[in-house]
Amino acid sequence: MADTFVSRSLDEIRFWSRIMKEHSLFLKLGFRCDDTKLIDEANRFYNIFEDIENQAHAFSPDADPQRIFEFNNVVHHAVCHIWKFKRRVLDLIIRCKIGGNNFPLLVDHISREAAYFMNRLEQLNTGTLDPLPDAIINENVFFLRIMADHAKFINHLLDPSERKLVEQAREFSHDFDQLLYQAIDLNSMRPQSQTLPLLEQFVDQNRVSVRQLRDFKKTARELIEACRIKSIIPPLLADHVFREASRFLEILDAFEVALSSSK
Ligand SMILES: [Fe+2]
Ligand SMILES: [Fe+2]
Repeated sequence: MADTFVSRSLDEIRFWSRIMKEHSLFLKLGFRCDDTKLIDEANRFYNIFEDIENQAHAFSPDADPQRIFEFNNVVHHAVCHIWKFKRRVLDLIIRCKIGGNNFPLLVDHISREAAYFMNRLEQLNTGTLDPLPDAIINENVFFLRIMADHAKFINHLLDPSERKLVEQAREFSHDFDQLLYQAIDLNSMRPQSQTLPLLEQFVDQNRVSVRQLRDFKKTARELIEACRIKSIIPPLLADHVFREASRFLEILDAFEVALSSSK
């Protein structure tokens, strides 16, 4: 049990601390160059999460669970601060106190990712991870919305002359909005909706669409890296959203295995 706690904690922190580090960079790139205080704050978060990421990679799988418990608390504290920073930036943008290129939905989106990471660390340290039927619904409600947002960001950051890709991104946006509503419906019907056949069908259906979106992001990333398409998507952002889709797909694959072994 202690082993699972250590490996699960390290896996979550390794993945999400890199994500938090990159969010700091994306925010910074979107600020106006004379907003130096915000740029400095973003730089500080970049360094904090880079440090956390390095520490997480330095731990071995047989690390002392007590040390990991303490590390989780330290990381939680940092994530709580970056969440507050993101919400403050959102407030400044919405009140037109600052300019720049950060879409409000993007700032809200990255704050939701921070909240998810915070919640996972709390669950790990209090031993309150969701049982499988709840995890399936909760993870899907969270990640389907994240995927739908990504499709919308890609749609708006591609050059409008890339008509075919813009169209594809719009279709993914619509597809994931639909899947999200299905997930919300299943959520409101619980616990009655948490039957094995319904959960299996739910996971299967979502996997098909997530795999397609993941492949689309992979192609977009390659095209952007090779400078074959016109967009204002930095290569790192293309890779970032690709990694988040891969993460969701891995979670869905694990659900599929867990459901079939529960028969
Ligand atoms: Fe992200
Ligand atoms: Fe994201």
